[in-house]
Amino acid sequence: MNLAESGEKRAPAAGNVPGRKPLFVVLEGPDASGKTTQLKLLSQELTQRGIPHITTREPGSTQVGEALRRVLLDPKQQIRPLTELLLMVADRHEHVEGVIRPALAAGKWVLCSRYTMSSLAYQGHGRGLDLALIRELNRLATGGLEPDYVFLLDLPPQEAYRRTQMRDRFEGEGLTFFTQVRAGYLELIRNLPRGYLIDATAPPHEICREILARLPLSG
Ligand SMILES: Nc1ncnc2c1ncn2[C@@H]1O[C@H](COP(=O)(O)OP(=O)(O)OP(=O)(O)O)[C@@H](O)[C@H]1O
Ligand SMILES: [Mg+2]
Repeated sequence: MNLAESGEKRAPAAGNVPGRKPLFVVLEGPDASGKTTQLKLLSQELTQRGIPHITTREPGSTQVGEALRRVLLDPKQQIRPLTELLLMVADRHEHVEGVIRPALAAGKWVLCSRYTMSSLAYQGHGRGLDLALIRELNRLATGGLEPDYVFLLDLPPQEAYRRTQMRDRFEGEGLTFFTQVRAGYLELIRNLPRGYLIDATAPPHEICREILARLPLSG
């Protein structure tokens, strides 16, 4: 007799259940799409539910990663596309091994701003590097660790452009670059199981509610 026939209640959703696999949740989207804002709001919600978790971001979040971040985002640096990709995946390897895997192993959810999809969208669709090469480097850097959920905070390029005010090297790129990155993101998220498209022009609390509704939480 299976559970449905027995009329027993189904097991509660993950998150509140000790011993259940912690989730790896990634937020993607262009600069200023609200990733950091949402990480904070989601973190508050998980804390309220007593779910142990960390928030983290790429590039950065390790000692080597923060040094790489400074170089990667510095508007004064001129970086070739392939160099940019290699530095991003180097950062990712440090991040996965030094932060993400240890947190998951300790039973903590990982809420992460940017991951493998950023390299595909920016260095692939934005800079024109080969997508198969990026996928291979991503696999190498992550050892095949895939997120359980990816939320794409989608913003029209004009709106992203307006919000950024060109604070870093990527944000200094023109509207054409942002348009290519967005088109890439939309294609990537469509083809990803457990990938969700979120309208990032909505108010922050609405966006947070929408993300929470898709996560396996109870209460
Ligand atoms: N839903 C929203 N509606 C309007 N403005 C927002 C929204 N979410 C965030 N913002 C504003 O947009 C700016 C960028 O937000 P935030 O830093 O969270 O984005 P981000 O995706 O983390 O950016 P970055 O890629 O540069 O780290 C901030 O000024 C923030 O207050
Ligand atoms: Mg941010």
